[in-house]
Formats: sequence, structure tokens, C-alpha cells
Amino acid sequence: MKKALLVTIVGAFILFQAPLASSEEKVSSLRGDHELDKPAKPIKRKKQKKSGDGIERNWKLQPPSIPHSVEKDRVNLKYNTCLKCHAKANAEKEKAPAVSDSHFVTRDMKVLEKLSPRRYFCRQCHTPQADVKPLVKNTFKSNDIELNNLLIEKTK
Ligand code: HEC
Ligand code: HEC
Repeated sequence: MKKALLVTIVGAFILFQAPLASSEEKVSSLRGDHELDKPAKPIKRKKQKKSGDGIERNWKLQPPSIPHSVEKDRVNLKYNTCLKCHAKANAEKEKAPAVSDSHFVTRDMKVLEKLSPRRYFCRQCHTPQADVKPLVKNTFKSNDIELNNLLIEKTK
């Protein structure tokens, strides 16, 4: 009797496990077919693109891409190394463009003396660039006039 019960339990276990195991093997995401419960493989670091003349914007109000390496920059509660060059007080000395006036406006449209907290984490909007093959197909086309009008309308 006990043996029959054991066989039933083991049988049921195999039955339920088998389809699960095979569907798990098929999971393939941008991480590849790497098992989901294993730590991700370290990503090979790509060399960041440098461009002294800046990187062209696709539309007028696009946050400009970062034309220099930011490997050594740190943004946390204690420091924001980007501001060492880009804060209004330091920009001229560092020959860097200063953050624009929009960076002092809060979401309630109040103009602050200091940088608005919502602009503190620079890389939320500004990203460094590298020469790489896109991970997914991108069909974005800039449509300057329409997009600008839409953005201006929204900030009114
Ligand atoms: C050592 C000074 C320095 C530091 C630190 C620095 N930058 Fe820059 N940044 C520059 C200079 C100078 C330029 C002008 C282009 C050039 O010479 O590369 C620039 C250009 C830029 C631009 C392009 C602006 C435009 O209008 O095209 C962005 C965006 C930017 N930096 C963001 C950042 C962010 C975000 C950080 C921190 C992660 C940072 N920078 C840290 C000096 C610095
Ligand atoms: C919420 C998104 C956002 C964050 C966060 C942000 N920016 Fe920007 N930034 C923009 C946009 C959008 C523009 C272009 C339009 C404008 O100037 O307002 C811009 C423009 C700039 C420019 C170009 C100014 C010019 O005169 O052309 C610099 C430099 C810059 N940002 C630096 C920074 C730095 C440094 C930080 C962090 C302290 C930062 N930004 C945080 C969105 C952001």
C-alpha cells in the first residue's frame, strides 16, 4: 500500500515537473538563454564615445547625450560629480556648458535658486553613447515640429 502511494506521488511529481522543465528551457530574453535564477553574466563594458563638439539632438527639447566618458562620475546623496563642472557657478571655469534654466524649475513650476531635486540624477535623462549594435530594432524618426509643439503645449 505504502509502495503504491509512493509510486503515485513520484509519478505525479514527474508529470508536473516535465512540462515545466521543458518550457523553462525555451525562455530566451535579452539576457540570452541564461538561467533566470542564476546571477547575470557580467556585461562587457563598452568604450564610451567622446565627441568634443557634442552630439546632435534629434529634437529641440531632447536631453542632450553626454559627449564624454562618465565612468568616474558618481551621483549619490553625498556627491554629484557632474555638478563640479556643470553647476552654474563652476561651468565657466571648467569650460563646460552650464545646466539650463529648466533645471531650476520644480514640478509645481516654482523657480528655485538651487538645482531642482527632480534634476539631481542627471543620467535619468542624459546618457553616454557607445558604438554598438542596437539590442532591439528601433524605428524612431524625429518629427521636430510636431514633437516640439506637443512638448510646449504640455508645459503650458
Ligand atoms: C570635468 C568636467 C566635467 C564633468 C565632471 C562632467 N562633464 Fe559633462 N561636459 C563637460 C564639458 C567640457 C562638456 C562640453 C563638451 C566636451 O568638451 O566634451 C560637457 C558636455 C556635457 C553634455 C552635453 C551638453 C550639450 O549641450 O550637448 C552633457 C549632457 C553632459 N556633459 C552631462 C554630464 C553629466 C550627466 C555628468 C556626470 C555624470 C557630466 N557631464 C560630468 C565637462 C564635464
Ligand atoms: C528630467 C530630465 C533631466 C535631468 C534629471 C537632467 N537634465 Fe539636463 N537637460 C534635460 C533636457 C530636456 C535638456 C534640454 C532642454 C533644456 O535645456 O531644458 C537638458 C539640457 C542640459 C544641458 C545643456 C544646456 C544647454 O544650454 O544647452 C546640460 C549641460 C545639462 N542638461 C546637464 C545636466 C546635469 C549636469 C544634470 C544633473 C545635475 C541634468 N542635466 C539633469 C533634462 C534633464
